[in-house]
Amino acid sequence: MIGIGNDHAAVELKLAICEHLKERGIEFKDYGIGEGEKIDYPDAAEMVCRDVVSGKLEKAILLCGTGIGISIAANKIKGIRACACSDAFSAKYTRLHNDANALCLGGRVVGPGLACELVDIFLDTEFEGGRHQRRVDKITALENKE
Ligand code: RB5
Repeated sequence: MIGIGNDHAAVELKLAICEHLKERGIEFKDYGIGEGEKIDYPDAAEMVCRDVVSGKLEKAILLCGTGIGISIAANKIKGIRACACSDAFSAKYTRLHNDANALCLGGRVVGPGLACELVDIFLDTEFEGGRHQRRVDKITALENKE
């Protein structure tokens, strides 16, 4: 199950991504807000990321105006590896090398077509493991030192 969260700067993008996930038959839970509602991006990040960390969700898709604020907030939660992306290479390699579990996109940065491609790449790419596992373990060790 994929969780999707958004603030008020990314409602349209959220709707486009939900539509795309439905078309692909991918199960998702929409934690986000709709048109006319407001939420601060750290709150949107927290709701979804808590469920990733607890194992209820496999991955998160997080949306704000830039994708950056919500990625900074998400990365404060132990166990979350969130990446703000606007290009295919980053979406692919953050899965291959970082085992990212949250993809963050900006509703004011990427259009719906590119966003859906980035979502597909992110969801369809497996972590490579090997030497990258050691590095991801070091990220976890850094979290545990805090
Ligand atoms: C909200 O206006 C905006 O600041 C937020 O969506 C995001 O872009 C922050 O990084």
